[in-house]
Amino acid sequence: MKVLLLFSHPVESSFGAAVHETARAALVAAGHDVDDCDLYAEGFDPVLSRRDRLTYHSHPENMELVADHCRRLDKAEALVIVTPIWNFGYPAILKGYFDRVWLPGVSFDLVEGKVQSRLHHIRKVVACFTYGSTAMLAFLSGNPPKKIVKRVIRAQINPRGSCRFLPLYDMNRNSQEIRARYLKTVAGAMAAL
Ligand SMILES: Cc1cc2nc3c(=O)[nH]c(=O)nc-3n(C[C@H](O)[C@H](O)[C@H](O)COP(=O)(O)O)c2cc1C
Repeated sequence: MKVLLLFSHPVESSFGAAVHETARAALVAAGHDVDDCDLYAEGFDPVLSRRDRLTYHSHPENMELVADHCRRLDKAEALVIVTPIWNFGYPAILKGYFDRVWLPGVSFDLVEGKVQSRLHHIRKVVACFTYGSTAMLAFLSGNPPKKIVKRVIRAQINPRGSCRFLPLYDMNRNSQEIRARYLKTVAGAMAAL
């Protein structure tokens, strides 16, 4: 499968980087064609500018500044997202990726004001999210990142596709053993993709 691996973490020695490398290596070992998109390493500009907003609905003009990312998304048959959760959402660089790349004419069309997905070529999604909070605190907060994956992204991919949410909570307290077990879960999910 052609897998777009989206990763956002600024620190090479972080646990997030270990999750990213585990996912990447397991995908390659399973024979997948991996497009490893490390947003920080690539210096992705997440700011939706005045120009971006003015051309937002004008396809293909809207994709001129992010054409390569649009092509990469268009090729993907599976999407794997590896990220820490900040302020119960995506880090700005990842949020900006979705704002600037998942555009009208790219990830969806507006037909008589209604959204029609253009992402049915994506059949699998795996979201590997790490949280500082416990699962209970995330639940009590409404867990917006989980809803974005299970409701928003799920609704955009192929209706027969699958969407796995793989969270690791309590990052401020969990042991090396728990972290190692999570990395195994991630590797297993990539092998089963
Ligand atoms: C700016 C910032 C905001 C954060 N906000 C949240 C949050 O709202 N909810 C949460 O569960 N954890 C939050 N965290 C904790 C991160 O999710 C946690 O540090 C990360 O998952 C740990 O992974 P890492 O060691 O690879 O960075 C935040 C961390 C940072 C740096």
